[in-house]
Amino acid sequence: MNSIEIRSTILGMGISVPSRILTNFDLEKIIDTSDEWITERTGIKERRILEDGENISKHAIKASFEALKEANITPEEINLIICATLTPDYLIPSLSVLIQDGIGARNAGAFDLSATCSGFIYGLAVADQFIKNNPDWKILLVGAEALSRKTNWKDRSICVLLGDGAGAVIIGKSSEPQRGILDFVIGADGSYWELLTLKGGGSCFAPFDERLPKEEYYIKMQGKEVFKIATRMMEKIALELLKRNNLTSKDIKLLVPHQANLRIIEYLRERLGLPKEKVYINIQKYGNTSAASIPLALYEANKEGNLEKGDLVLLIAFGGGFTFGGTLLRW
Ligand code: COA
Repeated sequence: MNSIEIRSTILGMGISVPSRILTNFDLEKIIDTSDEWITERTGIKERRILEDGENISKHAIKASFEALKEANITPEEINLIICATLTPDYLIPSLSVLIQDGIGARNAGAFDLSATCSGFIYGLAVADQFIKNNPDWKILLVGAEALSRKTNWKDRSICVLLGDGAGAVIIGKSSEPQRGILDFVIGADGSYWELLTLKGGGSCFAPFDERLPKEEYYIKMQGKEVFKIATRMMEKIALELLKRNNLTSKDIKLLVPHQANLRIIEYLRERLGLPKEKVYINIQKYGNTSAASIPLALYEANKEGNLEKGDLVLLIAFGGGFTFGGTLLRW
């Protein structure tokens, strides 16, 4: 079969988030902030946080089991596991092999994918290529983050934004060629790398190197600058994807953007001329969960009945690096 006729699609989805909820009012007790400021500037009301001793692999595995069940396939049928994350349990082993072991996917290869908040979109693009070359494969793609473990709870400019969670999808060949992933964009602009960093834990400095200030072991961000570039890039990707598929935003049934800031999402919605009901938002519950953000949102959008067979869905993400990406899919 010609590869052009093969389209990959989402066969099943699952999510899992820690049960511990950290509200804006809880944050008011530990840093100089207010529910009013956080709500107004970000749209976030609460986020999920791992308990001490709880690891994100647990949630990645739970989400994967749910996705397998929905796709009606067994762990042994999985050929490849891709885990998009910037906060794996360990540097060695990867989070993907912990998932492999946890679900018993003994026939699967496994690797982690590092593309910050765009990781899930990058993962979809990678999975799509594998399916086009191996149409019988089943791929488990997980976005999982334990951002609370890399959060400086003394830095109010960032700690109010982040949360933990995991979302999983099974990707396989679409039985209906018109449905599934239609197109994608992935991109990067490393010239902005210094605006959003997590230096500690990399190989520039030995562990506990005293030359590296303690704050560098946590995520650091120049929020205002990131905001400006994020809005510009997300709009650019969305328009590019629509244009090259001869579509307009009117054709979109649902935009599921990376949930980083409600104002960024609102900006994108307005620039694309979309009504509010065509944009899915759950940032109020989870904050920014990086690579887990889009699968958490897509899962909930579907469960809440926002998606019907044949709907055109646009996923758009942006993250540190910078990385960015978008996926156009027919549900
Ligand atoms: N609570 C209360 N006040 C806060 C605060 C907090 N949590 N964080 C910052 N402030 C204060 C600042 O100190 C500043 O005070 P000043 O005017 O007295 O100096 C004021 O609020 C405004 O700060 P500013 O940084 O200009 O706010 P902002 O409107 O740009 O919002 C972000 C800050 C981080 C919410 C916003 O820039 C943002 O969301 N950026 C993009 C982040 C993002 O999406 N990152 C992930 C990419 S994947």
